[in-house]
Amino acid sequence: MKHKISPSLLAANFANLADDIEMINRSEADWLHLDIMDGVFVPNISFGFPVIKAISKICKKPLDVHLMIVNPEKFIPAVKATGAKIMNVHYEACPHLHRVIQQIREAGMEPAVTINPSTPVFLLKDIIKEVYLVLIMSVNPGFGGQKFIEHSVEKVKELRMLIDETGSKALIEVDGGVNMKTAPLLLEAGADVLVAGNAIFSTPSPEETIHQMKTL
Ligand code: DX5
Ligand code: ZN
Repeated sequence: MKHKISPSLLAANFANLADDIEMINRSEADWLHLDIMDGVFVPNISFGFPVIKAISKICKKPLDVHLMIVNPEKFIPAVKATGAKIMNVHYEACPHLHRVIQQIREAGMEPAVTINPSTPVFLLKDIIKEVYLVLIMSVNPGFGGQKFIEHSVEKVKELRMLIDETGSKALIEVDGGVNMKTAPLLLEAGADVLVAGNAIFSTPSPEETIHQMKTL
């Protein structure tokens, strides 16, 4: 399977989102990655449901919603109402992760779990067969434009082994500091989906950069 690219809207021009979403529609991007922050789980606040709803009206690509919030289970209906394809919750924010994953699936979305840089891959052993996707954070969540944590490549390899051993069909997504240098290492290690914010939106032609990342 060819890897997927999920550009992170956090690095787009918030004063002119429609232009950036039209660019995403024209581009080879597979999904659009949306980062929701609550100022509690992470030390930053981004945007919320009214913004996602407005985006979903004009975006033709499936929405990959990454919730960096406490108690994400409270917002399953709100995420569903935006038309999102994937609802991504943090392992560290869910003491009852198995239940949350079932609820996301019952609501008609693809359930995904995200792990922070300090959370080991082996903790996913008992949930790996239940999820559509695992997102490995390769920076500490909360901000775009941070430096890639090299150890993330090892985590992708470990996760690939866990998926293969268990017969899980989960996709491996990586988020944070992904660029034209780090992307090949991640793909080589077994990543299926690359999230990139600054490495796409801060280039002269984001559409061309998406094409280049897609052809790696
Ligand atoms: C960070 C977010 C990322 C962020 C990545 O907490 O989860 O999706 O937008 O930004 P870059 O690609 O610039 O590191
Ligand atoms: Zn993200």
